[in-house]
Amino acid sequence: IESGIPAVKDKVPFDIGAAVARAQTLGEHGELLTKHFDSVTPGNALKWDATEPREGEFTFAEGDHLVDYATGHGLKFRGHTLAWHSQTPAWVFKDGDRDLTATPADKALLLSRLENHVRAVVGRYKGRIQTWDVVNEVVDENQPDGMRRSPWFVVTGYDFIRTAFRVARETDPAAKLVLNDYNSELPRKRKAVFDLVKKLRAEGVPVDAVGHQLHVNIEQAPAAEIEKTIELFAGLGVDQQVTELDVSVYTDFVSSYTTVPAGVLALQGYRCKEIFDVLRRQASHLSSVTVWGLADDATWLSSFPITRLNPPLLFDDELQAKPAYWGIADPA
Ligand code: XIL
Repeated sequence: IESGIPAVKDKVPFDIGAAVARAQTLGEHGELLTKHFDSVTPGNALKWDATEPREGEFTFAEGDHLVDYATGHGLKFRGHTLAWHSQTPAWVFKDGDRDLTATPADKALLLSRLENHVRAVVGRYKGRIQTWDVVNEVVDENQPDGMRRSPWFVVTGYDFIRTAFRVARETDPAAKLVLNDYNSELPRKRKAVFDLVKKLRAEGVPVDAVGHQLHVNIEQAPAAEIEKTIELFAGLGVDQQVTELDVSVYTDFVSSYTTVPAGVLALQGYRCKEIFDVLRRQASHLSSVTVWGLADDATWLSSFPITRLNPPLLFDDELQAKPAYWGIADPA
């Protein structure tokens, strides 16, 4: 890895994190991670399909490795995630072959599964995971009530959110509890997330922080929109984090380069600078900023929404600093 360049963590006024799997803790990847970052989020290792693939059978091999690694290297840890509609095994939402429905008995069953899961996963890492993404992507701004019609919501209404936060708080009272979502920098989604967080906090649900995923691209969303979001939530007095930043080199769902033009990578660098100008200005409202990957050799955007070359991070496939790194680490 490059030795003559500053550590990102020394250049920003908040904790800076990266999403990782086991591979990012090994060899040069591990060196890059510990040099530049304060914190890690497991990209997949603590999702329900990884931790409780069958009811009551918990598998923590990669989670344990990552938490041990973080603890041993002085990195903070963001747990991700306890209740989500995706990467959740089918059994969670079924009784035998039957899908659970909104009856009192099914609702009680689903909430008890959730409670067991949260107690087991949060409890295992109590004191070693400082922040948990408790619920992920529960908002749908196109629904009249702003709530995604996931099995969680269809069967339990808002109660899965209440239960997940309550049990997480009971299990590890010191952990910061986050409601995490994407597109909260866009006006309609911003409003829907805001209304939900306001409602939950008014009820006493322990939502400590809002997570803005910030999956953006080289054009969208404008940094001014990101700033509006942070200012709006600041009015609620809630902590905020950027949880999954990456900057796609595409503005649509179909294009694909065989080689990404240098000018596009330069533009990506300017975008990073613009975004971090806002994040620095708003630092008093932000406890951490996480990028959704360590380097371009491992990014979910190489297969989402289609398979294509898409280098959205600060370091390239060879772990060398890109314009995106310089946009963040060397502000004018
Ligand atoms: C992604 C992972 O990075 C991929 O490896 C996996 O195949 C799919 O999920 N929003 C989230 C993350 O909250 O959990 C997702 O992570 C990316 C979008």
